[in-house]
Amino acid sequence: MDKFVIEGGKKLSGKIEISGAKNASLALMPACLLASGKSLLYNTPELNDVFTMMKLLNHLGVESTFQNHLMELDTKNITSQDAPYEHVKKMRASVYVLGPLLTKYGMAKVSLPGGCAWGPRPINLHLEGLKKLGAEIDLVEGYIIAKSKRLTGAKINFDVSSVGATGNILMAASLAKGTTVLNNAAMEPEITNLAEFLLKMGAKINGVGTSTLEIEGVEELHHTEMETIPDRIEAGTLLIAGAITNGAITLTNFPSKLINSVLAKLEDSGCKINIENNSLSLDATSNQINSVDITTAIYPGFPTDMQAQWTAYMAIANGTSTVTDTIYLDRFKHVPELLRLGANINVNDNRAVIKGVEKLKAAKVMSTDLRASASLVLAGLAAEGTTEVLRVYHLDRGYQKIEEKLSSLGAKIQRVKGSEY
Ligand code: EPU
Repeated sequence: MDKFVIEGGKKLSGKIEISGAKNASLALMPACLLASGKSLLYNTPELNDVFTMMKLLNHLGVESTFQNHLMELDTKNITSQDAPYEHVKKMRASVYVLGPLLTKYGMAKVSLPGGCAWGPRPINLHLEGLKKLGAEIDLVEGYIIAKSKRLTGAKINFDVSSVGATGNILMAASLAKGTTVLNNAAMEPEITNLAEFLLKMGAKINGVGTSTLEIEGVEELHHTEMETIPDRIEAGTLLIAGAITNGAITLTNFPSKLINSVLAKLEDSGCKINIENNSLSLDATSNQINSVDITTAIYPGFPTDMQAQWTAYMAIANGTSTVTDTIYLDRFKHVPELLRLGANINVNDNRAVIKGVEKLKAAKVMSTDLRASASLVLAGLAAEGTTEVLRVYHLDRGYQKIEEKLSSLGAKIQRVKGSEY
């Protein structure tokens, strides 16, 4: 397992390009199962989660090539509708193959994803939605066994807005007979990217980008190509890297509208934000970090996937702030590690109260999940001394070569290969 060694205290500066969005790719790739033939996905990020999805699709019979961020997925020879535990246990998003396989092939056997590092992440809404479309679903020995003749459109009111359930049902409904209406659908940009891909494939969807999606099922979808949107969480993480080091950085290919909620909070914290066409600059050289409360919410609110990074940032703010996660109530595994770096944070239920300290001090810390790891890297960039972040394989799941991106902005960060961490 690799670790990062970070010499803290370097102000970041310069320009950086944002990679394609992990959570968009993880939806676009299984969507290719809906059409027979070769689909092209541009701007696909090179991430371990993307490779995990590719291997799962290969297991189903999909032929793939992946070069220079272009992923080609050929679905003409699907040989299996079975997503085994060996693949699904590595990544919960594997459950995205359920809707496409069921609607196209009339059956799917997909391992239940099980627990997650920071708490329960149910998939009841995926299963209830598919049942409403007429699927028969049994849970047998840790597997979802889903069967149906052609699915039939239905009205589905989600109790909770869920990215995954919206994506799965949207894909399933695209080939169903009749009209499906999804109320309280997720409006996250990655779902919009998926819906736009489905439209290009020939799906009929109204309300794209809103919380009500109306899908008129079609008989067939055709293979096509799609551009993956830029990763708003990578963008937000790098902006905080600039902010936490009192630096000044520019994201060169990033539409700011994807991350307005985070930009507003960065401005409140004292950063200057400048938006020009497709580029976005942050200037935090004023040496002042104001404490700012955040509460996570569904899009366009403050993303839960930026909560850990914001907590690290507020650890060195002037004064006290609160961070409340309303999406995942237990997502605070980064806090005990931030305490090892000298932060002053108390967690009660789903709220962290952060008393800003003047300086964080280097230590060895352990990654527990993707965004927690990102928060530790950010804290390490600001800490006095040399911080070691162990088990960075979590970061490799969702950030494309983050150490190279940070180094190019002037950070002193090194990957050390090894097995004892
Ligand atoms: N929920 C249910 N039942 C369900 C599904 C979800 O109760 O059947 C609840 C969850 O427990 C949670 C809320 O609904 O409280 C939202 O969960 P959602 O289904 O939207 O999450 P997801 O689809 O499993 C995606 C991202 C996550 C991101 C969340 C929230 C992908 C592959 N993953 O997960 O990304 O945190 O949406 O925005 O798109 C990450 O990138 O680090 C990550 C965890």
